[in-house]
Amino acid sequence: MRKFRYTGAILALTSVLLAFLITGTLLVTWQQRVMLIELQKAETSAELDLMADAFYESLLKSDYVTIRTFIERWGSVHQEFLLIRATAPNGFVVGEFQRTPGRNARTIELDKTITLDGRLLMTLSLTADLSKADMVVTKLRNQLIAGSVLFTAVLGIVLWRSQRRMALAPLEQEIELRQRAEAALQHAHDGLEILVRERTAELARREEHIRLLLDSTAEGIYGVDTSGNCTFCNPSGLKMLGYGKEEDIIGRNMHSLIHHQRPDGSPYPEQDCRINNAYRKNQGSHDDSESFWRADGTRFPVEYWSYPIASKGAVAGAVVTFFDITDRQKLEAQLIQSQKMEAIGTLAGGVAHDFNNILTAIIGYGSILQRKMDDADPLKTSVVNILESAQRAARLTKSLLTFGRKQALSPMPVDLNSVVRRVEKLLLPLIGEDVELASELSDADLIVQADAGQLEQVLMNLATNARDAMPQGGCFTVRTGQTTFDAEQARIHGVPAAGSFAVLSVSDTGSGMDEATRLKIFEPFFTTKEVGRGTGLGLAIAYGIIRQHNGTISVYSEIGKGTTFIIYLPLLQRPAAEEQLPRSDTSAARGTETILIAEDDKMVLALMRSLLEEYGYRVLEALDGEQAVRVFSENRDRIQLIILDTIMPKMNGKQALSAIKAVHPDVKALFMSGYTADIISRQGLVDRGYDLMQKPIAPMELLARVRKAIDS
Ligand SMILES: Nc1ncnc2c1ncn2[C@@H]1O[C@H](COP(=O)(O)OP(=O)(O)OP(=O)(O)O)[C@@H](O)[C@H]1O
Ligand SMILES: [Mg+2]
Repeated sequence: MRKFRYTGAILALTSVLLAFLITGTLLVTWQQRVMLIELQKAETSAELDLMADAFYESLLKSDYVTIRTFIERWGSVHQEFLLIRATAPNGFVVGEFQRTPGRNARTIELDKTITLDGRLLMTLSLTADLSKADMVVTKLRNQLIAGSVLFTAVLGIVLWRSQRRMALAPLEQEIELRQRAEAALQHAHDGLEILVRERTAELARREEHIRLLLDSTAEGIYGVDTSGNCTFCNPSGLKMLGYGKEEDIIGRNMHSLIHHQRPDGSPYPEQDCRINNAYRKNQGSHDDSESFWRADGTRFPVEYWSYPIASKGAVAGAVVTFFDITDRQKLEAQLIQSQKMEAIGTLAGGVAHDFNNILTAIIGYGSILQRKMDDADPLKTSVVNILESAQRAARLTKSLLTFGRKQALSPMPVDLNSVVRRVEKLLLPLIGEDVELASELSDADLIVQADAGQLEQVLMNLATNARDAMPQGGCFTVRTGQTTFDAEQARIHGVPAAGSFAVLSVSDTGSGMDEATRLKIFEPFFTTKEVGRGTGLGLAIAYGIIRQHNGTISVYSEIGKGTTFIIYLPLLQRPAAEEQLPRSDTSAARGTETILIAEDDKMVLALMRSLLEEYGYRVLEALDGEQAVRVFSENRDRIQLIILDTIMPKMNGKQALSAIKAVHPDVKALFMSGYTADIISRQGLVDRGYDLMQKPIAPMELLARVRKAIDS
């Protein structure tokens, strides 16, 4: 605050003015006083003269009483006279008036002689008080001084006030300005505070939003600064990496912590780390071929995305999103495996189909040849060998069809436990004395829709392999149980749908196998056994059978620790029917009936004809469906049975039968096919209630089926 610069000057000015006024006053009043005193002296002298004149006559008359009275009267009237004395020349006091002088008395003494012709008559003495003039002058002086003081004081105040106003004006202006600025500032501050509050709330909302997102996402998300040190990690990330809380990894170098080794365990130098390129080269990356390491030293295959994060235009670090792809890799492997198996199955099934017709002819003609030859014929051994080889080829074809899931099944509800119990008796001689057989079967019945004979075959194949894996002996264990899969588990286990499943597990304590072997064991013709010992079809057959039953088969094995196969089959809720295994009666059955054979393959047709005729039947032929209908209508009274190939030119077997049945509804028929069972049933190529023979058909079986069909 500025000082009042003019206060001193005003004080000095007023003081000088006051001194000047007072001095002037004193001078004027002093002059006035001198004048007044002179005037008063003159007046008093005139009074004395007057008195003398008045006394003159009385003196002449010697009237002293009058003089005395006069003096007294004169004295009492004039307050200023202190002494009036009339003294005779002899000193006699004729009259006198005396008054006590006041405290401030200022006296003059005057004498007047009264003479007559030069003779002294009387002396008059007068003492007068001149203080009246003093009093008047003092009063005036005081009033003037008071007036001066008052005037200068007023002037001083006026001056001080106006200069103060002058001095304060800019200050006040400044204050006002400042106050206005302050108000504006306050306003701006308030606005800013509201903005800050809103922004803070918005920020908190966003932070909450981000936190919720981070907490709820299934993917792991962490951030690193430009040194690669962790700045945050969400709960999913912590869980996947095996850490309890965020503090465990905050500030730690993420590359050294989780990304230091490649999937094969070799060191991964930090300078090669692609995640860190995000902040090193400002370049994002994505990868699904690497691994992250957990806190406990284990690792998992990971898919990650790394993005640079920028702050004020500069790269401030990176954010990494990742998830564990173990399950995905497993599913991918499963998918590839099943697609591979599917493709092989299709191929094998296709080859097997055409091969069947050839085998049917070889076996048929071979059998005829064999029967017609004398036992002594030297060529008979060759024929027997041909037939044996053909039978082996037929078995192989059958195995391939089974693997390709093209085997005709006779499924019915069976208890898995009873299948295992029945097969156990057969397994004992198979696995040999050195191998101990243990079974742990569930108490509950495990009813599955299955072809019991096929399941037995699966068990036999698994047991054979186990025996081969335990040349020094060991333990072979069969377990049964049940489990339930939800949709996700069903997907992981590769079964078609969620539900309850019977579990059949078969373990051995044998040699086990490595990963490369494990991945191939279900492929047909994959074997590690020496030539002649294994064809590599055992597990392919087992695989085909189980898949055809809507189940899955998987394997767990480690070198030197043994092998376990686990089979899941869908459980049925209803009880098992009385189990009957289809047993074919292969005893030859002769007959005299007439049979119409409709078959487009002339070789097969001729084979069947010669076989049937040999056994007493009469045979009519047709090379397609239309011909079959025609031949039947021409010989309808003779024909007791029609054997129809399912697929023929012009009219297929089913269509031909329908046409025949239109005129002869009670006709007996039998279907045969070289096509695989599933195609036939899928395309509805066989009428319900008719038997279907799968080519190649063994001669005895053909005869038995024919007899059965005619007799039915
Ligand atoms: N229990 C097992 N322990 C170790 N290896 C096994 C086991 N079961 C199968 N394998 C391996 O899987 C391969 C394929 O088995 P698969 O049963 O399909 O054919 P194979 O036994 O070799 O021949 P085949 O069964 O046709 O006589 C075997 O050669 C063997 O290497
Ligand atoms: Mg085998």
